[in-house]
Amino acid sequence: MDQQALWNNIHMEGKHSAFSRTPSEFAQEVAPSFPDHAKIIELGCGFGADAAFIAQQGCAVIATDLSEVAIARNKQMYSAIPGLTFQVVDMSNGTLPFQTDGFDGVYARLSLHYYSDKVTKQLFQDIHRVLKIGGRLAFMCKTTNDPLYGKGTQLEEDMFDNEGHIRHFFSEDYARSLLVGYRIERLESQRKNLYGKLSSFIEVIAQKNQ
Ligand SMILES: C[S@@+](CC[C@H](N)C(=O)[O-])C[C@H]1O[C@@H](n2cnc3c(N)ncnc32)[C@H](O)[C@@H]1O
Repeated sequence: MDQQALWNNIHMEGKHSAFSRTPSEFAQEVAPSFPDHAKIIELGCGFGADAAFIAQQGCAVIATDLSEVAIARNKQMYSAIPGLTFQVVDMSNGTLPFQTDGFDGVYARLSLHYYSDKVTKQLFQDIHRVLKIGGRLAFMCKTTNDPLYGKGTQLEEDMFDNEGHIRHFFSEDYARSLLVGYRIERLESQRKNLYGKLSSFIEVIAQKNQ
């Protein structure tokens, strides 16, 4: 299934149960680690509540998503927040349309676990490229312990198509393998209710050090 059409449908139908309209705990934890006036990219911003929160902490945020439906709605909804811009960006080719060494932070909550191993590796290399030395990458992904793991058709190792919804589940080792050139500040898996469903996810905060 075309993933852009799938996500546009999800956003158009306004299935809020899957997304939060209020800033996530992860955003609230991560935002203070960004310096004053930090330049931040959010990847896969969905309903935009985390981007709005991070911008309100004094950061300049470019919040991106594959779904032009989500981006158009967010532009309207958050037009009053200074320093916050929204842009359609499709990460599925493994590259980001942003300048090298240009950003203090890249934030991605539940949006980096959709790609093949090859694309995921390219994407993490490109995230590393756009970060300044000392910049932080903060991301959260579903793990191989998630109840959805193994459901549907297997596409490759740890990657499944479940009724058109493609997910690549991360192990801790896999997450570590993607973090060459970073000092890992926190890498933690947990299993808990997320939007009413038991989920397992990994949370990572890492600082680019080379
Ligand atoms: C589970 S939602 C998470 C949204 C938000 N970060 C949150 O935590 O509520 C995943 C988001 O990733 C976006 N997404 C999916 N595939 C993408 C791609 N190839 N490029 C950019 N964004 C994508 C979806 O449109 C969706 O908004």
